[in-house]
Amino acid sequence: MRTQVGIVGAGPAGLMLSHLLALAGVDSVVVEKRGRDDIEATIRAGVLEHGTVELMQQAGIADRVMTDGTRHDGIDLRYAGAGHRIDLRRLTGKSVWLYPQHEVLKDLINARLQAGGDVRFDVADVALAELTSEQPVITFTDPDGTGQELRCDFVVGTDGSGGICKWAIPETARRDYFRAYPFGWFGVLVQAPRSAEELIYARSERGFALISTRTDSVQRMYFQCDPQEKAEDWSEAEIWAELQSRVAGNGFTLQEGPIFERGVIPMRSYVCEPLRHGRLFLAGDAAHTVPPTGAKGMNLAIADVRVLAQALESFFAGNGTALLEAYSDTALRRVWRAQHFSWWFSTLMHNLDGATDFDVRRQLGELDLLTSSDAAATYLAQAYVGWPAKL
Ligand code: PHB
Repeated sequence: MRTQVGIVGAGPAGLMLSHLLALAGVDSVVVEKRGRDDIEATIRAGVLEHGTVELMQQAGIADRVMTDGTRHDGIDLRYAGAGHRIDLRRLTGKSVWLYPQHEVLKDLINARLQAGGDVRFDVADVALAELTSEQPVITFTDPDGTGQELRCDFVVGTDGSGGICKWAIPETARRDYFRAYPFGWFGVLVQAPRSAEELIYARSERGFALISTRTDSVQRMYFQCDPQEKAEDWSEAEIWAELQSRVAGNGFTLQEGPIFERGVIPMRSYVCEPLRHGRLFLAGDAAHTVPPTGAKGMNLAIADVRVLAQALESFFAGNGTALLEAYSDTALRRVWRAQHFSWWFSTLMHNLDGATDFDVRRQLGELDLLTSSDAAATYLAQAYVGWPAKL
C-alpha cells in the first residue's frame, strides 16, 4: 500500500489532520490500534477554544458543536467562600464552547468515512521504519491477522501520550522535558442538572475542584486527590461531601445525583523536542502533555495539525520544504506558552505539597489580583479562549 501521509493514531490530532489534508487534496491513511466504539466512548475534557471552533467551522465539521454544544462567555473563579466571574467575552471578545472531545471524534470519524477516507481501526503491531529515507514505512497487522506495509511520503505520529512514535526519534536526536505533579484529579460523571451556568474553578482549603458540564442532565466534576487514590474506595456520599466542601460558601451548593462514572487522572507536563525526525512528524499528545487545568490538551493538538496540514499542503503543491522545516519551532512556541499557562493555573488553584502559610496567602493574593484587575484577568482570559492562530 502507498499513501502520501501515513498517520498513526485516530485521536483528535490524527483525524483532524486527515480531514484537513483531504480538503487540500492530499491522501492519507490513518491506522489506530483501538476500536471505533472504544474511541467514541472515552471520556475526555470538553472545552473548545475559539480558534478550534473557527477551524472546525472552516473545515465544515462544526454543525453539531453549534446545535449540541454550549457557548460559554465566562468562567467562575471560586475561593475563600465566594465566586468571582472572569468575563471572557468582555476581556477578549471571544468565548469557548463546551462540547465533549468524544463528540468531536464522532464528527471527525463520520466526516472521514463519508468522504471515503481510509481509517483502519483495531490494527496491531504498529511500527515505523526508514524514517530518514524519502519513503518511510508504517507496518502493522490487520484485525484479521494479515501483515501490512504502508509506504508514505511522510509519517505523522498522533498516537497520544502512551504512543510509540516519539520513541522512533533516536535518543541522541530527542530531548524530553517531564514534570509529574504530586496530585491527581478524581473525576466523576453525574446524572444531575447544572449547578451553575458557567464552569467553576474552585480553590479551597481542602484543595482544588472543577465543576463542568456535559448536557442539561449530565455534569462533569473533579476534585484534587492523591494520584494513588483508588476511585472504587469512595462511597457516593463521601464524594459529594468532598465536592460540596470545596465549593462551599455564600449558600452555594451543588445539585447532587447518581454518579455513573469515576476515575483518577494523573497530572503531568511533558514535551518532546523536536517534533520532527527525518520524514516523521509528531503532533498532539504524542509530543506533549499538559495537566487538564485550563483544558489546553485537545486544543493544542488541533493547533499543531493546523500548522502541519498547511506545511504538508504547501509541500505537495510544489512549494518546497520551508514550512515543514519550520513546523517544529512554530508549533513548540504555542506548546511552551500552553505549558506555562497550564502549570501556572494548576499551581495557583491546587493545594501544594509542603505549602507554608506564606504560599497560601500568596495564592489568595494572586486570586484577588486576577479577579479585580483587568490587566491580570486578561492574561487568563486570552489563554483560556486560546491565543490567535499566528503567535
Ligand atoms: C471537562 O469538562 O472535562 C473539563 C473542563 C475544563 C477543564 C478540564 C476538564 O479545565
